[in-house]
Amino acid sequence: MSKIILTGDRPTGRLHIGHYVGSLKRRVELQNSGEYDKIYIMIADAQALTDNYDNPDKIRENIVEVALDYLSCGIDPEKSVIFIQSMVPELTELTFYYMNLVTEARLHRNPTIKSEIEMRGFGGTIPAGFLCYPISQASDITAFKATTVPVGEDQMPMLEQAREIVNKFNTIYGETLVEPQILLPDNKACLRLPGTDGKAKMSKSLGNCIYLADTEEDVRKKVMSMYTDPNHLKVEDPGQVEGNTVFTYLDAFCKDEHFAKFLPDYASLDELKAHYRRGGLGDVKVKKFLNNVMQEELAPIRERRKYWEKNIPEVYDILKRGSEEAQKAAAETLKEVKASMRINYFEDGALINDTMKKYM
Ligand code: TRP
Repeated sequence: MSKIILTGDRPTGRLHIGHYVGSLKRRVELQNSGEYDKIYIMIADAQALTDNYDNPDKIRENIVEVALDYLSCGIDPEKSVIFIQSMVPELTELTFYYMNLVTEARLHRNPTIKSEIEMRGFGGTIPAGFLCYPISQASDITAFKATTVPVGEDQMPMLEQAREIVNKFNTIYGETLVEPQILLPDNKACLRLPGTDGKAKMSKSLGNCIYLADTEEDVRKKVMSMYTDPNHLKVEDPGQVEGNTVFTYLDAFCKDEHFAKFLPDYASLDELKAHYRRGGLGDVKVKKFLNNVMQEELAPIRERRKYWEKNIPEVYDILKRGSEEAQKAAAETLKEVKASMRINYFEDGALINDTMKKYM
């Protein structure tokens, strides 16, 4: 069986380093591993509209932001198909058929949906489209026969629901759809990178994000004012590493070779942590180190962004060509789905003859 990746992001804002360590970086590695037959990366504008339907311009503007972030991170349009969800209408059609396979109660049980309903304060007035977006996500995944979906931990319930839909479809209509596997980040710190203020999640509304498009100076300022251990007041004080954002970020970004380069007094992150715990290591020193580590990772991304920002028509052309290719692939699957569901009336040569016999 071919190995196919599908993943994507909602175009509701610039992507931040939480997206990067949680998913983007991995995608680039997977893309360059040569192990996959096909890689689709989708800008999920239709899904973003399910809770931004009253602000379509926000989605429109952020399509190119997300595309720029992808290209800057090293997603290569020669190797990966980058496309826009709404440009593939087959996805919507699949969603309508899959809706029959999911109960309303099941939609309400999805933990990610539950917490999003709470966060957005929908109360009793949840748009039906929003409640159903996990179904549309199952369409995104199955339309491309994706075997592997590299995403963050918050997407686990979506994958679970997609697998249920696949199984139900295949049971009722016959083996047609491919069951996808989730691929989570293997580094625990990358599963959910906290905001610079130590809050559990990086989010635009909390103002605690470091963006991929941030300048060197922006990043430095954000790192230097990061939340650490509030009880570590004097350098001599013993400090806590757990829940200390600076160390969580180091867990996500730092490699042993960074010590030789930027902080040769230590050989590894374990040594640095041990010193911090004992006391005698100041926050500023650790933050400066983190800043060097992060700048090294982010500098090439920033450089590539500069190139693409000067070539916007080329970016749109990549999206257009990607969308055309994705549409063709999804149309193939939809054809199979409709045949399995016996709603392929004009493709079924036997239908007219069988019907004729019935009325003879
Ligand atoms: N829900 C994802 C997010 O919020 C975006 C998305 C839409 C997606 N469709 C998908 C991710 C299919 C993986 C597979 O980031």
